[in-house]
Amino acid sequence: MKVTVVGAGNVGATCANVIAHNEVANEVILLDIKEGVAEGKSLDMWQTAPINLYDTRIKGSTNDYAATKDSEVVVITSGLPRKPGMSRDDLIATNAGIVRSVTENIVKYSPNTIIIVVSNPLDVMTYCAYLTSGLDSKKVFGMAGILDTARYRAFLAEALNCSPKDIQAVLMGGHGDTMVPLPRYTTVSGIPVTELIAKDKLDAIIQRTKVGGGELVNLMGTSAWYAPGAAAAQMVEAIVRDQKRIFPCCAWLQGEYGMKDIYLGVPVKLGKNGIEQIIELNLNKEEKELLDGSAKAVKEVMSVLDNMQQPVK
Ligand code: NAI
Ligand code: 2OP
Repeated sequence: MKVTVVGAGNVGATCANVIAHNEVANEVILLDIKEGVAEGKSLDMWQTAPINLYDTRIKGSTNDYAATKDSEVVVITSGLPRKPGMSRDDLIATNAGIVRSVTENIVKYSPNTIIIVVSNPLDVMTYCAYLTSGLDSKKVFGMAGILDTARYRAFLAEALNCSPKDIQAVLMGGHGDTMVPLPRYTTVSGIPVTELIAKDKLDAIIQRTKVGGGELVNLMGTSAWYAPGAAAAQMVEAIVRDQKRIFPCCAWLQGEYGMKDIYLGVPVKLGKNGIEQIIELNLNKEEKELLDGSAKAVKEVMSVLDNMQQPVK
């Protein structure tokens, strides 16, 4: 069982480390374009195996895709991260070129793989990988919802002084400030969150969640990696172990939620075949309006990619 992580930067290296630490795969290939970086980080991680007691073999590669041959799952994290003052959308031109060339190389060596995109702007980079790969849309999807929901759940756990383990939530829409946390689908061990927290406090948490990525960029001068890396690794685990877990993921919609030809965050079931089901919630009018607004924002950035002479499927 081989998993490849492309991009050995902050997110990619963290993701590979979590996959190895949790023994999700027998072999993890970490690939980067920068000479020696993936090899060095892989060697360092492999030297934690006797300490952390795992036997997943981590190997680094400088841009040699032959090493990724027959990967079951590939996580694409290559690309520029945000700097303070930048939006995720500012990254589109550079990252589209990177995601396109990485995807071409990946499918050359692993024509039946499942691709999880992490690079930003997330929804549009997932679309880019889908167009380039020629794979079924159930095998190309993006990581954002698990991260955004984790931020929301962590903020709630702090406010309620309870364990984050007990907070379940759904969040939908694009990976940007228009994302749609759904209080109606948020519970604390089955108790509706609205029974445990005042509306103004909940609204403030929702607002903080929406700009949660930016909060970290302002603190660190670059974007986050621990939670993003762990979130992508959790998706890999659900696929590799065929867990049928239900997560918010960036998926290709063909009529679901009344939307067509768009990559957007929705709850899905993840298993060995990739996205095995897109779950359609009965959104109320206000929730649907928020989702439509988010979809509109994503479509605008998708059209930027379309206008960059992307091959049309
Ligand atoms: P980073 O700068 O630490 O790492 C990116 C790595 O990609 C670098 O090591 C670079 O050498 C490599 N790279 C660039 N071009 C490449 C190519 N053609 N082939 C192989 N490797 C290549 O950045 P970081 O923090 O790891 O973020 C990576 C991406 O993930 C960014 O676009 C960032 O915005 C995005 N991101 C997305 C999140 C999400 O929720 N979807 C969360 C956090 C980050
Ligand atoms: C994040 O949300 C920047 O997308 C990245 O942390």
